[in-house]
Amino acid sequence: VTKIGVLTSGGDSPGMNAAIRAAVRTALYYGLEVFGIYRGYNGMIEDEIVQMDSRSVANIIQRGGTILKTARSKEFYNEEGRKKAYANLVKRGIDGLVVIGGNGSFTGAYKLSQEFGLPCVALPGTIDKDLYGTDFTIGFDTAVNTAVQCIDKIRDTADAHDRLFIVEVMGRHAGYIALHSGIATGAENILIPEEETTIEEVIASLSEKEKRKKLVNLVVVAEGHSSGGANGVAEILKANLPNLDTRVTILGHIQRGGSPTCLDRLIASRMGYHAVESLLEGRHNVMVGILNNAMHYTPIEIAIREKQRLGDDWMKMVKILAS
Ligand code: F6P
Repeated sequence: VTKIGVLTSGGDSPGMNAAIRAAVRTALYYGLEVFGIYRGYNGMIEDEIVQMDSRSVANIIQRGGTILKTARSKEFYNEEGRKKAYANLVKRGIDGLVVIGGNGSFTGAYKLSQEFGLPCVALPGTIDKDLYGTDFTIGFDTAVNTAVQCIDKIRDTADAHDRLFIVEVMGRHAGYIALHSGIATGAENILIPEEETTIEEVIASLSEKEKRKKLVNLVVVAEGHSSGGANGVAEILKANLPNLDTRVTILGHIQRGGSPTCLDRLIASRMGYHAVESLLEGRHNVMVGILNNAMHYTPIEIAIREKQRLGDDWMKMVKILAS
């Protein structure tokens, strides 16, 4: 590998810039040429590719978003699109690729490696933490800390009015943001897709708390929960618990922005550095993760296919701590 391309793809996440910076500077250290590919796979197709130097990544480690921009590319699903994209890499002699993103972005990298033999390394960049083979994904810690700050604020006003608040957090099909932010804010109920709490159980626990005159209640619901999110939950709870004064807050894209936490900057830096080391050492077509504080390399096709499993004791703990 002598010339590498770097791109961010899918939903942005805080810390992507730190990962870009680490990959670019490590590559330059080893004498490689580095190219930034803009707007994910769209920019690869449209030839939005720019050579980078050390200064291109100055003053970005603390910034959210991604300086390379990002997109979810439909055209890249077609072989035609991928051929066009690959031709743009060949034109510049790019012979290695670092892809920072989530599951969909990994699929693009896998296709490139399979169809053209292009060495690819994937970095887990998503606030959802829904990837196999890593304890951390770039952006999760920042997103979950943002959610915690917001929910703490909601608790203040909930307390002042003795209200029930249903707070919806992101996560797509995964409940990690809900689980972590819910535990950290002492939520009475946490609704996640991985281990579904029925709405009947929520009603039972809230009416029991109502009897005990426990009036501040927080329910954190993952957007991917089968209830259809916070509005769906609120509708049922209002009908069943008319005495409770219920409000809904949907945190939304606020969870995607902001300056990355120390942890996100650190893991992004480690992963970006090891992505280039991997390309140079011939460890190709892997996702670079961190497990038990050590770097861990999962073949991309396994990272795409497998799901992270939630440990058994989480929801039991949630119930005990919120009682
Ligand atoms: O994957 C990150 C994420 O923020 C999910 O949590 C959410 O479901 C989705 O992206 C939102 O996508 P968009 O920004 O395209 O609305």
